[in-house]
Amino acid sequence: MPTLQGKVAVVTGSGSGIGQAIAERLAQEGANCVVDYRDHVEQAQATADKITAAGGKAILVHADVSVLSDCSNLIEQAWQQLGSCDILVNNAGVEKGADFWDVTEADYDFVLNVNLKGAFFLTQAFVRKLRDAKKPGRVINISSVHEDMVFPHFSTYCASKGAMRMLMRDLAVELGPLGITVNNIAPGAVDTPINTSLLANKPKLDALLANIPLGRLAKPEEIAGLAAFLASDDAAYVTGSTYVIDGGLMRNYHEQ
Ligand code: BGC
Repeated sequence: MPTLQGKVAVVTGSGSGIGQAIAERLAQEGANCVVDYRDHVEQAQATADKITAAGGKAILVHADVSVLSDCSNLIEQAWQQLGSCDILVNNAGVEKGADFWDVTEADYDFVLNVNLKGAFFLTQAFVRKLRDAKKPGRVINISSVHEDMVFPHFSTYCASKGAMRMLMRDLAVELGPLGITVNNIAPGAVDTPINTSLLANKPKLDALLANIPLGRLAKPEEIAGLAAFLASDDAAYVTGSTYVIDGGLMRNYHEQ
């Protein structure tokens, strides 16, 4: 039997990249999914088609995760239309490069509101419903190696991901008694739209690849495999941890 049969998952930012791969994989494991999108309904529809092809049910819900009422509506729709909400994958994420001295308030709000505020309040909405229903649950945050590793010129991104690490640790303790586990996945460089400009810049890409012991970017499906594990019964005792999946990038400092 598929490991997630009968479970319902909300995967934010599931119209593309890592989120799309996770939604598809969770569906292959038996879950029904809420596909959320902010701007591109056609991309979300493509994800829903993949879920249906994998044998799952999918619903599309528009949500900007930086808006609190959208967060509660996303969880509400899962319960109303799919009967539950057992797994939350906080995947929606953005980054904006700028020298620290040039970062504007708008850049700061854009990155922090999606990456941190969104994950914070969506998790709150998710937990409130589970607490009322007395059901267990799984929170999986898609963080980054940059929850721990510097990324010069991406101070807003690092601030958001570092905060996500502490949020995960804190919530693992606070939500453990409710039977809700909380973990982070920290990918390195993944072949997704967030890296479009990097992929188009050969010298930059080559410099990055030289730092990755496995010599390549990750495929979104590889991140999805880890998410499927963390959502499964096999991970029932796992909480409060970050799982790094980076081809060895974080461990690679060496003297030439
Ligand atoms: C960022 C990418 C970056 C990668 C490795 C990811 O979190 O989104 O832009 O290439 O980390 O540094």
